[in-house]
Amino acid sequence: MPHPARDLEGLIAKGSPEENLLSQIDFKRLPRHIAIIMDGNGRWARMRDLPRVAGHRAGIIAVRDVVEISARLGLQVLTLYAFSLENWNRPRMEVNTLMGLLREYLKKELDTLQANNIAFKVIGRMEELSPAIRRELTEGMEATRGNSGLLFNIALSYGGRAEIVDACNRILDDRARQGAPRPLDEATFARYLYTAGQPDPDLLIRTSGELRISNFLLWQIAYAEIWVTDTLWPDFRKRELLQAIVDYQKRDRRYGRVGSEPEPVGLPRRKVTA
Ligand code: FPP
Repeated sequence: MPHPARDLEGLIAKGSPEENLLSQIDFKRLPRHIAIIMDGNGRWARMRDLPRVAGHRAGIIAVRDVVEISARLGLQVLTLYAFSLENWNRPRMEVNTLMGLLREYLKKELDTLQANNIAFKVIGRMEELSPAIRRELTEGMEATRGNSGLLFNIALSYGGRAEIVDACNRILDDRARQGAPRPLDEATFARYLYTAGQPDPDLLIRTSGELRISNFLLWQIAYAEIWVTDTLWPDFRKRELLQAIVDYQKRDRRYGRVGSEPEPVGLPRRKVTA
């Protein structure tokens, strides 16, 4: 049975595999933050003799499904890798379609995000996006800023190394202004990342069977559990997400120690503030 404290009414059919997975989840040990490398849109389209962009369009349905179940389960943060800095090198037509889909998503889904108390945030080099998209994204972020439910990060024009370099440059700027800096520690460094104030991902999911990190959240995934599925992103649904959580809860997270003890006090358990 769905956990009574969760808002899952109407979302999970009685007697379905999803309900069975849900019954295996310990809601006291949910991952606080799930990050997903959405991969396989191009292959999904090729298998159907469709243009690559048809795969991206179908991928939006999976995005909607995953955002909804994440919010209803009570996750704190969901981060989806939508467009990397390297993706700027794709054919112009594909880049334009992806940007168009993003705008369309935001326009269509903003009301749903609001209704579900979801805060939306872009992480990445927004300055490289067109002014029109930047404006729409900023409006979306501002409109949902006060929402206290799921924080939905979209990694857009994002690179993990670029994020670290951007953080270093901001630290250098601050220190040039403030003078006499104290030595830098990990907690201070993390406050300069795009994800400042958010818990690090506990669970990193990658679709389409590839075993790569692809320059995603390089700092933040230091202790994330990695879960890979052969399912291509456009076919990813609640069921896969629930399965990933069930499997995650069976993992023994040791943080470099020997037994399965509770997480040590020194590791970040930051409150979400962004
Ligand atoms: C990877 O598949 C997927 C992407 C580069 C884009 C993902 C974007 C979306 C699903 C749409 C926009 C997202 C949001 C959050 C509204 P690929 O093209 O690399 O696939 P392949 O490896 O099979 O070629």
